Amino acid sequence: MDDLLSAARDAADAAYVPYSEYAVGAAIETADGTVYTGCNVENANYSNSLHAEEVAIGTAVSDGHRSFSRLAVTSTKRDGVTPCGMCRQTLAEFCDDDFPVRTDGEDGTEYTLGELLPATITREHLE
Ligand code: THU
Ligand code: ZN
Repeated sequence: MDDLLSAARDAADAAYVPYSEYAVGAAIETADGTVYTGCNVENANYSNSLHAEEVAIGTAVSDGHRSFSRLAVTSTKRDGVTPCGMCRQTLAEFCDDDFPVRTDGEDGTEYTLGELLPATITREHLE
């Protein structure tokens, strides 16, 4: 078991998901090897639920990190879930196309962020 995926699985256990009952956990490793985790946190208004990846990367950034080496994401169903479109865009703010995204299905597929979100807008477009 990959350590980062194991951290994502642990994070999923804390998910607050009374509405979807779909628990997600994410773990992101910073360039200096620190690991930040997050889980989804739902809300009665449905629309402003926090996604696990957002919580993980947001916590890391708020702690001063800007550079990341890899991400692992899982649901407690171990169904190979990948970051949604919104979370892919959040990752693209800080991570390059070759950034590895490990999933947690039967085959534990690893994608690159560029495969998941090709040709998106980045900060370079705004320079
Ligand atoms: N979810 C995440 O936490 N990350 C994703 O990128 C995909 C979706 C959560 C949101 C919601 O709480 C539940 O999974 C079902 O969509
Ligand atoms: Zn998402």
